[in-house]
This record gives sequence, structure tokens and C-alpha cells, in this order.
Amino acid sequence: MGYFDTLMADRYEGLHFVSDGASGLRGLIGLHSTRLGPAIGGTRALATYASEEAAVQDVLRLSRGMSYKAALAGLPHGGGKSVIMLPRGPFDRERLFEAFGRAVHRLGGAYLPAEDSGTGPEDMAFIRRATPHVLGLAGKSGDPSPVTAFGVLRGIQAAARRVLGRSDLQGLRVTVMGVGHVGLPLCELLHQQGAKLWVSDVDAGRMKVAVDRFGATALSPEALVAQAADVYAPCALGGAINDTTLPLLKVKLVAGAANNQLAEARHGEALANRGITYCPDYAINAGGLINVAAEVGTYDREKAYARAALIHDTIDQVLARAKETGLRPEQVADKMVEEKLYG
Ligand SMILES: NC(=O)c1ccc[n+]([C@@H]2O[C@H](COP(=O)([O-])OP(=O)(O)OC[C@H]3O[C@@H](n4cnc5c(N)ncnc54)[C@H](O)[C@@H]3O)[C@@H](O)[C@H]2O)c1
Repeated sequence: MGYFDTLMADRYEGLHFVSDGASGLRGLIGLHSTRLGPAIGGTRALATYASEEAAVQDVLRLSRGMSYKAALAGLPHGGGKSVIMLPRGPFDRERLFEAFGRAVHRLGGAYLPAEDSGTGPEDMAFIRRATPHVLGLAGKSGDPSPVTAFGVLRGIQAAARRVLGRSDLQGLRVTVMGVGHVGLPLCELLHQQGAKLWVSDVDAGRMKVAVDRFGATALSPEALVAQAADVYAPCALGGAINDTTLPLLKVKLVAGAANNQLAEARHGEALANRGITYCPDYAINAGGLINVAAEVGTYDREKAYARAALIHDTIDQVLARAKETGLRPEQVADKMVEEKLYG
């Protein structure tokens, strides 16, 4: 399939190749949709893209994902993403990101970059020299992870009520894979609600923090997946639900922060066949996006948390509609977005 066929099949508004010979900038800006507002989505900068084609595929997949996440979260934003193929040799980072900022500026505010893998607030500051259309600057919304964790907690509360008939999380058994920036604050919030925790992480030091502070039980990743519990919260890498882990799961809900939790779409069906309810990843982990989107205008942390709290209602609606229609939760979430975008 050629690029235009790909863009049209998934209704992309555009794919912009941006370059600057002086700084060595080779970048791509994917604009999936600006139907609901300026497209929002991070700038990924890597020196490791195997090919230009790999970078194109990445920016397209990610920008579409941002449209879906922003729309389901009820944000006045569309979805976009950018990738920069960093030079493999030495280069002037400041110059390169400023050149990227000029490219963003030429889009007239249709796309708002923010930090992502391989970029940080200092890169956003370089972009800011060329355009006001940038988020994720130092001193603004800050680390999104605590807000993401809070959103996941709200999603778990909604799912626990709807699927398990629970009005609180007292004694709820939760397994958390990955106790990093999101997993650890999630453990803290769950602990405050009286949940019983099992954790795993390849980093033993991080696991120890969860054990010491929140009374969690540490397990190997393999043992965690097989641990009987009410909720499994993948908070490490994508693809947590796959052919290896699926048969081992002894939980009723999958609800965690990781992106792309289903290794393949068919794993969603397999979860449902095992009677396990899946809270779609992009619905439950939108807190970080909600937090950075709150930078448009004047950032207000309380407002960001108030909006992230609504993830409870989103998950509740998704699960209610799944029950009514017989569709799986991830199918319902996609449908809700497509109604908003193309309805
Ligand atoms: N940070 C956010 O606000 C945010 C927002 C939305 C989605 N997410 C997603 O949530 C997930 C976690 O994000 P994070 O910011 O906490 O990342 P992080 O790197 O801080 O934490 C991930 C943790 O998982 C551990 N880990 C890595 N591989 C593992 C493995 N094979 N088995 C067990 N543990 C492993 C790491 O040691 C680390 O402690 C990622 O998938 C990320 O894309 C994060």
C-alpha cells in the first residue's frame, strides 16, 4: 500500500516530512486528526530507527493512538505525534530542536509537541524559541506519572464496582507489573484504599520500595502473572497480554498503565473468552495526556486531577456499553471515539 492509501484508510489529515540541512534535522510530524482541536502528542527522538520507513510507521501508529486517547478522555484536542531521526554522529541538539520548532510553527498551532521517549523539557525549551505551540516545558505540568497513576486508580474503582460489585477497594487483590514512575504511585494509591498488593520489577531496588512502604509481596515476573488476584495492572512494557501470559492469568480484571497491553488484537478476544474484563489501555492511562493538555492556557494541577478523575466515568461507560452490546471493552472504546470523530 502506498502512503496515500495508508493515510486515507485510517483517515489521517497529513504526514509532514521536515528537514533542515544546517542542523541535520530529519523529522516527521503525523497529524491524524484536528477535528476536536489542535493535535497533541509527544516528540520522539531516536538515533536507532532502522529505516525511514520504520520512522513513518511509528509516527503514523502513534499519532492515530493520540487521537483516540484524547477523544475518549474528552479533551478538546486531536492526535498527532512527531519523530526525529537523530544524527548518529555528533550534532548540535539546540540547533536541531530549534529547527524542529520552526517546522512546528509552520503548522500554525495545528500540532502541539511535548516530551516523549528521547526528549525532555530542555528540548521543549529549544522548540519554544521558534514557536509558542509547544507543551511539556519546565515549570509547567511536570512529571505526568502521578496523574496517570491516579487515573488508573479511578479506572480500577469503576471496574471493581461494575464487574466485582465492590463499593471500595478494601482487601482488593492487585498484582502490579512494573513499579516505576507510574507503578509505584499506583501502589501507594491502592495501598491507601486498603488493597493487597503483589509486585514485580526487573529492578529489585524499586520492588523493595513497594514492599517496605506499601506492604507489597515481591514476586518474579513469571510468578506475578500466575498469582491469583482480582486485578492485574500491567505498568511496565507493552504486550503484557500475550500467548505466554494469557493462559497463566488468574484474575478478573486487567487494568494498568502500560501502552499497547494486548500484544495482538486477538488477545482481547482471548481475554474475554477466559472471562477476564479488559479496561482498554488508552482509556485508563490517559491521565498523563490530560495533565500535559492542561498546560494549554494556565496550568492548574487541581483541574488536571479533576479531569483525570473522570476516567472513572469513561471506564464505567465503556464497561456498561460492552455489557449491553456484547462487544468487548476495547471495541466499545474504539466505537465511542469513532462516533465522536466521524459520527
Ligand atoms: N508515565 C506516564 O505518565 C505514562 C502515561 C501513559 C502510559 N504510560 C505507560 O506506562 C508504562 C510505565 O510507564 P513508566 O513511566 O512508569 O515507566 P518506567 O520506566 O518508569 O517504569 C517501568 C518499570 O517497569 C520495569 N520493567 C521493565 N521491564 C520489565 C519486565 N520485563 N518485567 C518487569 N518489570 C519491568 C522497569 O524496571 C521500571 O521500573 C509504560 O508502558 C508507559 O508507556 C506511562
